[in-house]
Amino acid sequence: MATIASPIDLESEIKRLRKERSAIILAHNYQVGPIQDIADYVGDSLGLAYKAKETDAEVIAFCGVHFMAETAKIINPEKTVVLPDKDAGCSLEQACPGPALERYLEEHKDKNYYVMAYINCSAAVKALSDLICTSGNAVKLVEQVPKDRNILFVPDQNLGAWVIEKTGRKMDLWEGACYVHVEFTRDSISGIKEEHPDAVVVAHPECTYSVRMLADEVCSTEKMVTFCKNSKAKNIIVVTESGMIHRLRKEAPDKNLIAGPTDKCNCSDCRYMKMNTMEKLHDCLLNLSPQVTMDEEVRKRAEEPILRMLEMSK
Ligand code: 13P
Ligand code: SF4
Repeated sequence: MATIASPIDLESEIKRLRKERSAIILAHNYQVGPIQDIADYVGDSLGLAYKAKETDAEVIAFCGVHFMAETAKIINPEKTVVLPDKDAGCSLEQACPGPALERYLEEHKDKNYYVMAYINCSAAVKALSDLICTSGNAVKLVEQVPKDRNILFVPDQNLGAWVIEKTGRKMDLWEGACYVHVEFTRDSISGIKEEHPDAVVVAHPECTYSVRMLADEVCSTEKMVTFCKNSKAKNIIVVTESGMIHRLRKEAPDKNLIAGPTDKCNCSDCRYMKMNTMEKLHDCLLNLSPQVTMDEEVRKRAEEPILRMLEMSK
């Protein structure tokens, strides 16, 4: 491990290592500003999955949470996938362990479930699924599931409920939730709306029903970029993880972007997304560690529903 003197040295070292390793840096919209600024591509889970699929770089440095880097490895078994912090998890992934889903499916064999898994889950859960979706394509994909199948939607009950509202399709929902998005409440969002009566509200579908009800638009993080750019409103309340504001300020500089508050504070950090730092990004490129690894049998089974998703959401 090398000691880097200043942020400028750190930035140029990361750039040098990226070239030397023939690496691509992919970053989620919730990453800290400096990581977003140095990344080759910044986007939502869907955009990142497409980018990971099409890259010809030898190394993928994935700045997001573990399931995102794992997804990149599942569809790129021959590539080296590194991540700044291997402990960057996700409360949704934790809400649905592979063995628990396997047991549930075994106990409900009579339902012959079509398992639709939100991408925020482990490789083991993906391997048990028929189709993967993201917040950016869930509605479109559910509409393509054969009408005679019972859908079990895992692991996010809020995203699942929003998809039911949008499509009218009945689904059974796993009771998982994002610990960040459930912190926004009807009171916290009504309060900020009262302070900015002319503002529009854009919210992530991982928010609860009472918060989604207050939003003018509910969409994935990438679609928030398009919404903010195209909106006629000057003031926009953004109800999602706080890293999104950095991306939006760059893409829609003419807008006044207001981070949606929770009852407890004026911003909302995902502690997992924020485990990644420029120092750790540097070190993972230098040491090519930590790397994503997994059992080949699980990988092969997990790859099928991801490739199906990429094909069906074109
Ligand atoms: P997006 O795919 O909309 O970026 O969502 C990912 C996520 O983890 C939201 O909490
Ligand atoms: Fe998971 Fe929520 Fe963090 Fe997204 S914001 S990575 S869903 S814990």
